[in-house]
Amino acid sequence: MATTVKLNTGALMPIVGLGTWKSKCKDAVKTAIAAGYRHIDGAYVYHNETEVGESIDAMIKEGVVTREELFIVSKLWNTFHRKSMVRPACEKTLSDLKLDYLDLYLMHCPISFKPGDVDMPLDSDGKAFGDDVDFLETWEAMEELVDAGLVKAIGVSNFNHEQIEAILNKPGLKYQPANNQVECHPYLTQEKLINYCHSKGISVTAYSPLGSPGRPWASADDKPLLENPEIKAIAEKHKKTTAQVLIRFHIQRNLITIPKSVNPRRIEENFQVFDFELTKEEMKTLLGFNQNWRAFTMHWGTNHKNFPFNAEY
Ligand code: A2P
Repeated sequence: MATTVKLNTGALMPIVGLGTWKSKCKDAVKTAIAAGYRHIDGAYVYHNETEVGESIDAMIKEGVVTREELFIVSKLWNTFHRKSMVRPACEKTLSDLKLDYLDLYLMHCPISFKPGDVDMPLDSDGKAFGDDVDFLETWEAMEELVDAGLVKAIGVSNFNHEQIEAILNKPGLKYQPANNQVECHPYLTQEKLINYCHSKGISVTAYSPLGSPGRPWASADDKPLLENPEIKAIAEKHKKTTAQVLIRFHIQRNLITIPKSVNPRRIEENFQVFDFELTKEEMKTLLGFNQNWRAFTMHWGTNHKNFPFNAEY
């Protein structure tokens, strides 16, 4: 089983990475690198890139890993979509991470927000104050980051296939997206979007592979994926945990995945996924749980012209 996915740039992206959303992740990043992770997924808006950077720096200085062995991902936040704001935003991320390049930089979302100090500028109905920036313009500014050597590859996140198509059809396109990072797990299998991306040579990263059990807005009616009895039964058959089955499910679909954890035992557990294989039948069972259920609905963006989740895929 390959432990990397080849991007359309030729680079190899480690198939399992550590997600860092919301985590107090200083120790988590160190634990993960020590456990063999080589891919760390972050974003400006997680407001922890300084911590992530300190841990990466420490592990490099200790000789545990080299910069070249690591694959570091960050994301351009929605308030920085204007062309003139893209490079400074990327430079801030690089400076916080103490790096001179990123392996992959993603547009976090197709929805642009009004620029300012507030990450989520919301009106009294909880809807975001949008900015009227065409994401194709933002894309052009991201292409310039590649030419400037600040990032090795660029991609998108939370884009539907029509929005990716718009980038691919942009007159004068210089670089195709290398990756689309979307929510994906057995309750949201994203089959059409994944087939579309893969058919265009665009890799897909699955975020919230465990169904985002730690999200603060989980309601009592939600049925946690990790407690699904049928998935638990598959795990028992393989003498693995439910989380390991969920992670393995993604890598057998050739999806990169970025489980989050700040618990050292679970960080290690989530990386022990290369020594077993789910059968075709088990993969079919897991795909059969799809109900197009999203942990991340982006309810704040439904009024924006680029809200991505109205399209079928
Ligand atoms: P913790 O940090 O305490 O381990 P997702 O990546 O789908 O958003 O899931 C992240 C959440 O899942 C976090 O709350 C994390 O909690 C929890 N988690 C991560 N790994 C495991 C695991 N192996 N078993 C159970 N829960 C896990």
